[in-house]
Amino acid sequence: MRDIVILTGAGVSAESGLGTFRDVDGLWTKYDLEDVATPEGFARDPALVQDFYNARRANCLGAAPNAAHFALARLEEAHSGRVLIVTQNIDDLHERAGSSAVWHMHGELLRALCGVCAHRWDAPAEMAPGDTCPSCGAAATRPDVVWFGEMPYGMDAIYARLVEADLFVSIGTSGTVYPAAGFVEVATGAGALTLELNLEASAPVFDEVREGKATEVVPAWVEEVLAGV
Ligand code: OAD
Repeated sequence: MRDIVILTGAGVSAESGLGTFRDVDGLWTKYDLEDVATPEGFARDPALVQDFYNARRANCLGAAPNAAHFALARLEEAHSGRVLIVTQNIDDLHERAGSSAVWHMHGELLRALCGVCAHRWDAPAEMAPGDTCPSCGAAATRPDVVWFGEMPYGMDAIYARLVEADLFVSIGTSGTVYPAAGFVEVATGAGALTLELNLEASAPVFDEVREGKATEVVPAWVEEVLAGV
């Protein structure tokens, strides 16, 4: 299994105290995603949207990586082949655990984006609707996150890596949001083996599924890979 591509979702950060979206008590049971995770919602009420991401940024900064994040960093360091993490998560816990090949397809909470000139910079802890872009001066700043109706980042590069992968692993994602939900079919079609590690299996499309908490199943799987099992 030389070339491994890993897709992660909210489940990998759940045991770090960051909520998932669709589980009981998930974020989408408390907020309407149309209000806080669409360009239309931002246009209607930018203060509400900035406050939503300010709160999530504070949670992220107060959280720490867990054993699953650390195990994936160890895999990248110790595996003889390539390891790429494509994450739907906007937290930085993979990076803080030590992973360096991490692609944030849904953007990053800790970055800001100008809606006028597309300049990007490190987000302050709190963002507000009147904030101006340090490059062009427009008062159109937003979190650098991908909302529903927008194109996720880096799709061409992600597909290029998926078709080269020997193994595709999906960790802690419900597989309900496209295009990420379709990655398993792309990898299968290109000849990769596929594995799901999740609290509960999502869809019956993986070659193998291991159910359990990320902090347990991920380290166990990483040790197997590194032992050449
Ligand atoms: P979801 O909330 O849809 O799914 C979370 C998944 O994590 C479920 O499959 C759970 O079974 C699993 N899970 C929960 N706790 C776990 C644990 N301790 N260990 C392992 N697995 C666990 O979150 P995502 O699939 O990440 O997008 O959601 C995908 C996208 O939908 C997000 O990136 C976000 C959201 O709307 C945008 O906002 C654009």
